[in-house]
Amino acid sequence: MVQISTSILSSQNRPLAIKKLNETNTNYIHIDVMDGVFVPKKEFPIEELKTLLPLIKKKIDIHLMVEKPENYIKQLNYDNIEYITIHCEIDSDIEMLINIIKNKGYKVGIAISPKTKIAKIKKFINIIDMILIMSVNPGEGGQKFLKSTTKKLKKINKLNKNITISIDGGINLETIKKVKKYINIAVVGSYIINSNNYNETINNLKN
Ligand code: DX5
Ligand code: ZN
Repeated sequence: MVQISTSILSSQNRPLAIKKLNETNTNYIHIDVMDGVFVPKKEFPIEELKTLLPLIKKKIDIHLMVEKPENYIKQLNYDNIEYITIHCEIDSDIEMLINIIKNKGYKVGIAISPKTKIAKIKKFINIIDMILIMSVNPGEGGQKFLKSTTKKLKKINKLNKNITISIDGGINLETIKKVKKYINIAVVGSYIINSNNYNETINNLKN
């Protein structure tokens, strides 16, 4: 069964969204951190993370869309963080960052943007826990699912059967059907946040 990681990026009231999600069947709460450099927007400054993360009772899935993840990783100390994901496109020593995350006791994800070739992540596959495949260009919620993603998913499935595969961007009841058999986790933002009943929407996506 596919697991759901709910992104609260598009919520107008993030503390309330967290409180509501704590009572649902979402498996994770997904936090999209943006630095205004790797992507144009700035979201979840560290001060906001420090007030929001303690409210979360679910497992936390952090997606760092930032050029310099070290600064963020150092300050992220919460027992329910499960994954910290960094992007393979950044100009940093990725292996060093993988080790920093592992040494903190968290699982490591590597995210890959739509235009990036799979070759870029191949050498990390056996030392990470999750691949996060972006099905929209990173940077904002509410975008349309890119059809080219399905082809990429098929290729990644062949590389390593044991790694957790997550998909992020434009997922709704229609698009999840196309990708379900290739993934373990679906990150879903606006489709859940804009719905009237979070738990009903989450249950429908899982089934
Ligand atoms: C996009 C983010 C996503 C986004 C998902 O850069 O990484 O996690 O919030 O939101 P939806 O589901 O609205 O595309
Ligand atoms: Zn994300």
